[in-house]
Amino acid sequence: MPQTDHAAPTAFDATVLPAAALQRLRDARHLLVLTGAGISAESGIPTFRDAMTGLWATFDPAQLATREGFLADPPLVWGWYVWRHAMVAGTAPNAGHQALAELAGRRRRFTLVTQNVDDLHERAGSGDVVRLHGSLAAARCLRCSRPHPMPALTLPAADGSRIEPPRCPACGNLVRPGVVWFGEHLPADALARAQAAADDADAMLVVGTSGLVHPAAGLPARARAAGALVVQVNPQPTELDAVCHHHLRGTATQVLPGLVRALGG
Ligand code: OAD
Repeated sequence: MPQTDHAAPTAFDATVLPAAALQRLRDARHLLVLTGAGISAESGIPTFRDAMTGLWATFDPAQLATREGFLADPPLVWGWYVWRHAMVAGTAPNAGHQALAELAGRRRRFTLVTQNVDDLHERAGSGDVVRLHGSLAAARCLRCSRPHPMPALTLPAADGSRIEPPRCPACGNLVRPGVVWFGEHLPADALARAQAAADDADAMLVVGTSGLVHPAAGLPARARAAGALVVQVNPQPTELDAVCHHHLRGTATQVLPGLVRALGG
């Protein structure tokens, strides 16, 4: 259920996209979609950079999203990720995630790339999601990378308080969250797949990202340079405005269900 204070969803007006652009999306041989935190906002998961409500308005990324921050205070950082994991577990996919899952089912070639570390695309029915920034559910050993389950805590018990991270049963080192932190490389296979899709796609949708974090933010320009039509879905202007051919200024749940309907079967 949507839990934000956005205006109630309104139907997508297909006339805001020129007919030729809609037709190019419809006819795309390979459609690439890039999503960011905005697509999960209406499920109740805060974005990072929205004023007031974004996580980075309240929390310090240097402390909570870097290897150095984790090593300086492991219980602080682990407790924060346990809280985020529990928060995501208490949400459900919204109509935007569902529309993209439906769109995928209809295309011969469809690549969904996300910067999000929640699992709402998968829970909406999207398979084979290319995850550029890891997953809240994929904790692993800091040293040997052995996977480790996240604690099955739910809200309100997981309140962001400090929690001592578990130790790896194989090597005894600290278990770390499964997300990509600032200063770290993206998973090479995911990045390679995303870049190959940008080179191959003939149309791209860019949904709910500020376009500030590279290399993900470079994908729309790469797709455009390779000849793709690039359409942005976002209620606000972004860094990607100059790169995208068309802008659908609305939230994910306002725009995507109607857009997918307009694209037909
Ligand atoms: P940001 O928080 O930077 O941007 C969120 C974007 O979503 C903004 O452009 C908003 O205008 C837009 N938005 C807000 N509500 C929306 C809605 N209901 N529908 C559609 N769009 C909406 O999030 P990202 O661009 O995803 O990194 O941030 C990129 C990376 O920075 C994240 O993956 C994270 C963060 O640090 C890691 O975790 C490694």
